[in-house]
Amino acid sequence: MMDGFIEVANADAFSDGEMRQVGIDGHELLVAKVGERFFVADARCPHMHGHLARGTLEGTIVTCPRHHSQFDLSDGRCVRWTDWKGIANTMAELVRHPRPLRVYQIEVLGGKVFVGPEKKPVAAPPVAVLTSR
Ligand code: FES
Repeated sequence: MMDGFIEVANADAFSDGEMRQVGIDGHELLVAKVGERFFVADARCPHMHGHLARGTLEGTIVTCPRHHSQFDLSDGRCVRWTDWKGIANTMAELVRHPRPLRVYQIEVLGGKVFVGPEKKPVAAPPVAVLTSR
């Protein structure tokens, strides 16, 4: 096993499309299985700390149960920042800029899932700017 990797789950315990919150050394992590691949990310939404494991998973896209932001577990990219519309959405982006979800390297060995260092973060999308005329 590579240095810096820690066991987080039994691979056999997951079915396709399942995700669970796992506590490791005081960190809350989300472990998900999509097809034959595993993904590990922070368990809390970068918007306002919603429990992502209580949300939904479609392919590699996890949707937060609180305000329905969406993140791609393969790279942490923010696909949608809340489902608020219009001015509420603009204010949401200005007050709390869209941020990626932290995702981690993983290894599956001997039926166990191991989590490693954080994957390189993706760049945050550009922030909408209010302009006056
Ligand atoms: S806490 Fe997740 S979308 Fe707001």
